[in-house]
Amino acid sequence: MIKNIALDGPAGAGKSTIAKLIAKKLNYIYVDTGAMYRAMALFMLRRGVDINDEKAIIDAAKEAEIEIRYEDGVQCVILNGENVNDYIRTEEVSNAASKTSVVREVRERLVALQQSLAAKENVVMDGRDIGTKVLPDAYLKVFMTASADVRAKRRYDENISKGMECDLEQIKQEIIERDNRDTTRKESPLVKAWDAVELDTSEMSIEQVVEKIISMM
Ligand code: DC
Repeated sequence: MIKNIALDGPAGAGKSTIAKLIAKKLNYIYVDTGAMYRAMALFMLRRGVDINDEKAIIDAAKEAEIEIRYEDGVQCVILNGENVNDYIRTEEVSNAASKTSVVREVRERLVALQQSLAAKENVVMDGRDIGTKVLPDAYLKVFMTASADVRAKRRYDENISKGMECDLEQIKQEIIERDNRDTTRKESPLVKAWDAVELDTSEMSIEQVVEKIISMM
């Protein structure tokens, strides 16, 4: 029996770190849905598409072919044949993804891809609408949160450790703006599914969060 785990929550709540560790412990496949929205946004940026123009996004998206492959257990997002993992983690792409992901046509295609991955084997999938829309029958749904200050600091530390220059206050402002867009958009806004367990990780260590979620399985 397939026992999928849906992990939703705002940017910087720690979803991907936690999801990767859970996948390793339970021998599950980790599906990072944000990476798919990011690849779509990268496509638009490279094309010079105006990311505030919905019609232009819908037209351009028809030419973006997105696939997922796994290499040594790592998810690779393939955009028109190219592995774009190394290009989708910039703040520019983050902000663009939050805008292009409001478009229904973009979501429909990526949701279909996500559902087909989850139908084949056990997955731990993270995103914004996994428990509500992508996997409404998931075995376990967790809604992870943390304060905006904690999330901004985590993103800041992550960027610094990768040698990326950044400004803490600016990251916090961008997180707040992105939360606002993600929770108020018309298509699949970020909301807790009625049957999801809410977990505030502000004061929890990574290990504590992983143990807590595994104990719910
Ligand atoms: O989780 P992330 O930061 O990689 O996501 C990037 C953007 O993609 C985020 O602003 C919201 C969007 N997203 C979405 O709309 N639905 C998902 N299932 C995952 C991400």
